[in-house]
Amino acid sequence: MRYSTILGIESSCDDTAAAIWHKGKILANVVAGQAVHEKYGGVVPELASRAHQSHIVPVTDQALNQANLKIQDVDAIAYTQGPGLIGSLHVGGNFAKGLSLSTGKPLIGVNHLQAHVAALYIETPNPVFPILCLLVSGGHTQLLLVKSYMEMEIVGSTMDDAAGEAFDKGAKMMGLPYPGGPLIDKYAKLGDPLKFKFPEGKVPELHFSFSGIKTSLLYFLRDEKIKDPDFVEMELYHICASYQHSIVDYLLKKTRMAIHKFQPGNIALAGGVSANSQLRKDFLNISKVTGIPALIPAFEYCTDNAAMIAAAGHYLLESGHTTDLGALPFVRMGK
Ligand code: KG4
Ligand code: ZN
Repeated sequence: MRYSTILGIESSCDDTAAAIWHKGKILANVVAGQAVHEKYGGVVPELASRAHQSHIVPVTDQALNQANLKIQDVDAIAYTQGPGLIGSLHVGGNFAKGLSLSTGKPLIGVNHLQAHVAALYIETPNPVFPILCLLVSGGHTQLLLVKSYMEMEIVGSTMDDAAGEAFDKGAKMMGLPYPGGPLIDKYAKLGDPLKFKFPEGKVPELHFSFSGIKTSLLYFLRDEKIKDPDFVEMELYHICASYQHSIVDYLLKKTRMAIHKFQPGNIALAGGVSANSQLRKDFLNISKVTGIPALIPAFEYCTDNAAMIAAAGHYLLESGHTTDLGALPFVRMGK
């Protein structure tokens, strides 16, 4: 192993993170969130860039301190090259490049979505390929067929909103702060998932659509509030449970179709929405029924983190990739 200690840096959206990967173990995994967006109901890109600038040095220092290392001790610097918010990517990318330039350590730019998949290898270094991975985050919803560590094909993807956006925008309609996914998860535990019905998206094959379900929540709340202005307050737990149930059911219906089609060796969850307790529980049930082992990352590796960036960096470096100082960030999938 040429690259046994890797510093990972993540700044694609609204979390500033740094982590140390060492021979397959995570020695430090530091994440600074950005409360500044809460009151806006979504991430404000310019505020995110500024918060990354103030967080990135202390977060990296903290990761090195926790791992008991100096910057000279790392073998390479991995950072999120994209996709993400352009300003946020620039902050992490330029910081990583500065570190690489001043220390002479190799640099590796990582695709954030591939890194969500690499998060699986932290706890399962020897999975059974191909892995069928349901990647569900605030920006993406995809079914990926992972053929080897960093080789993957998108076999299904959302045509409009991501699953995380459906959670967050739904939460906003109910008057909950951003990001609403974890709150819907929390309140759903206290409600009846079958009390209300929200129709699933109608797109073919393994693709997804969440705009319909979101719009149906919007009109449902509007109509009910006309009848009773306190409707959301009174029924919050049931609305959360039913809305979550509709999203999770839809995600898993498509996942079952993909399992049938590809007969994978492992099935896996990745991305922030995989922290959802209903999704995790039902996903394990699918594993039980099909007999295909499920890989579900620990919470800290599901939501955005730099441990997954360092892990992805390791696999890319070992297969001969490095990134030069002139590399630009990319905003969308596929460079
Ligand atoms: O992967 P991630 O941290 O960031 C992106 O790359 O987008 O995902 C963030 C998304 C947000 O939409 C958030 O609401 C959602 O993950 N999320 C959840 C839960 N925890 C985070 N959604 C539903 N249930 C949760 N427990
Ligand atoms: Zn993410």
